[in-house]
Amino acid sequence: MNHTILITGGAGFIGSHLTRLFVTKYPEYKIVILDDLTYAGNLENLKDIENNSNYTFIKGDITNAELIKKIFEEFKFTAVLHCAAESHVDRSISEPLAFVTTNVVGTVILLQAAKENWKHDTTNKLFYHISTDEVYGSLGAEGYFTEDTSYDPRSPYSASKASSDHFVRAFYHTYKLPVIISNCSNNYGPFHFPEKLIPLCINNILNEQPLPLYGKGENIRDWLFVEDHVKAIDVIFHKGKTGETYNIGGHNEWTNIAIIKELCRQMDIKMGKDKGTSEKLITFVKDRAGHDMRYAIDATKLKNELGWKPSLQFEEGLSKTIDWYLDNTEWLQHVTSGNYRKYYETQYHKR
Ligand code: NAD
Ligand code: TYD
Repeated sequence: MNHTILITGGAGFIGSHLTRLFVTKYPEYKIVILDDLTYAGNLENLKDIENNSNYTFIKGDITNAELIKKIFEEFKFTAVLHCAAESHVDRSISEPLAFVTTNVVGTVILLQAAKENWKHDTTNKLFYHISTDEVYGSLGAEGYFTEDTSYDPRSPYSASKASSDHFVRAFYHTYKLPVIISNCSNNYGPFHFPEKLIPLCINNILNEQPLPLYGKGENIRDWLFVEDHVKAIDVIFHKGKTGETYNIGGHNEWTNIAIIKELCRQMDIKMGKDKGTSEKLITFVKDRAGHDMRYAIDATKLKNELGWKPSLQFEEGLSKTIDWYLDNTEWLQHVTSGNYRKYYETQYHKR
């Protein structure tokens, strides 16, 4: 089956890995990226594939209904992989409305366009919504999120993602739109924007700056290497059942303090520094408002039904991630200086 796929948010962290996987693994598919290049979107993430003949980039906002209508008519998409979102919890605490606009309104605009364009024939069509485990709320010391766990979002980010998930399911039940949702745990890896915990600390270790840990650093996240996440999306996209939800996670829980200590340990070795040097940079700071205590995914359904499991152990994935940042200091420098924003003008306006 051939596809023309709209990937929204393809210039972001997960979206760029997903785009790379689909563009290179499926040369027969046509992949169209729609990304508004907000602070989190960076075309340098896609440099290595930008000249592939099955790749098209469009700069635009998912909340622009006219634009969405136009590109659906032009490209006749058979599938949508919807990654575009405002994704940072801390930003959602200071600007919740932006999260409602992009994550909720933007998703509904895309759903409407898919419904309208596929209304006469939904064969081999799919609206795949990429979501987060944060919709399930916060766990205590015990238990895991399964696909049947009730939604209990507690930050403006997770509330907006939960709302978008509800709209996706509503379009399935009300209009029979073919949809799939996956809810994944925290990702890490190359091209991660350095305001999220792991890349922020890598950058700060490189610059000998404090490593800010919220509260006591005891909150727990379940970390998955980003390439394992996009491989799971590939499996679900091709083998998943319409109308279903799949949880994706690595069974890999770490407290924030333990992660940062492991990061410091590995970076001291890689940078030839004395043992314990980077750990001295750890600084406990004021806790995040409403900070969720623990996330942990039960990915049994995905493993049993579709045969996916993560390929990397965390220490190995972290080591690969650090190596990538050490080898790509220019990318990091462009992001931290804001220069990555110039790439669009130099690369695309000349065409
Ligand atoms: P990201 O912030 O790195 O990337 C988001 C991308 O969306 C950026 O390229 C940005 O320019 C684009 N974008 C934002 N608003 C837009 C708009 N209005 N119109 C068009 N493009 C817009 O996010 P990410 O970490 O890659 O997350 C991608 C998806 O995966 C999100 O839906 C997020 O909720 C979900 N998710 C993320 C994680 C994680 O750990 N990062 C875990 C589970 C699920
Ligand atoms: P983050 O990367 O923002 O992901 P999320 O909040 O979506 O899980 O944060 C991961 C964990 O690290 C979370 O418990 C908050 C914590 N954290 C810090 O302790 N310090 C920081 O500077 C940041 C950005 C996060």
